Amino acid sequence: MISRRRFLQLSGMTAVGLMIPKRLEGMPCDPSTADLMGLGPYWEPDSPYRSILASPEEPGTRLFISGVVTANDCHTPITNVIIDAWHADDEGCYSVFETCDTGNPESDEFNLRGRVLSGPHGQYFIETIKPGPYPLGLDRFRPSHIHFMMTPPAGEPLITQLYFEGDDYLDEDTGSSDPGAVDRIIPLNETENGMEGIFDIKLDIDPDQKAINVNYPISGNRIQNIATYPNPFNSHIEIQFDLTKPSHVLVSVYDITGRWVQTITNKFFSKGRHSFLWNGNASFGETVPSGEYFIHIQTANEYQLKSITFLK
Ligand SMILES: [Fe+2]
Repeated sequence: MISRRRFLQLSGMTAVGLMIPKRLEGMPCDPSTADLMGLGPYWEPDSPYRSILASPEEPGTRLFISGVVTANDCHTPITNVIIDAWHADDEGCYSVFETCDTGNPESDEFNLRGRVLSGPHGQYFIETIKPGPYPLGLDRFRPSHIHFMMTPPAGEPLITQLYFEGDDYLDEDTGSSDPGAVDRIIPLNETENGMEGIFDIKLDIDPDQKAINVNYPISGNRIQNIATYPNPFNSHIEIQFDLTKPSHVLVSVYDITGRWVQTITNKFFSKGRHSFLWNGNASFGETVPSGEYFIHIQTANEYQLKSITFLK
């Protein structure tokens, strides 16, 4: 379980968004860096959406990582960033690519892998176990690390790694000894439930840049035949599309400036046609002003946009 202190921090952010430290206007801040080791050989696409990557029986020390995803002012939160995390087990073994001893159910081929979305205030949380170092041969080890791929609703993913203070192998590792990795070596605090650390992510996105890129949808073939009716709409709009494969789908509404307005659905769907309603309400319940909005439909590897018009 997450500690009470951290829970209060996260729930405070969720309720009113006051817990994100305000920076002075115009103060620069350094964006989070990519890791020099790149993607590495053990990334696997299509891992499940879940915040708990390790079952209670998984061997190792429980680890709780939370943080906030912001733009490059270190203040403006970015919502709906896909945070894809994967790591070795406590003996340095990677699922999918290797046969590992695991406490997770045998049927879970994505052991110690998962994706979460950043919330309305950019916040995210994962629970897992602390990965073990793994040998590179010749008495060399990679330090304990978690791989991350952070994909904002528009723009390039940040592919990076998280390390932990006090690790014996930090100095000899190409990734962790890079001066640019300093902000990604975090302290862990011991709690009654395990170790806890904070990893805030600053994407290299200007705060006033549109959160979605309306001109360049990333095409794939999972989402097809999008229909919206009636459009323009007054009380409700129906959004329909076909899924050509079972997929996790996120359907959101953005305003004309690219700001996130509302999430309509965020879950796994079967193949086939699906239908949703939106009543013109924003995330905190108020009705949005009349105008043009975008329906943003996203799966693992693509997103599609549909322009709609709300007339009060
Ligand atoms: Fe790795």
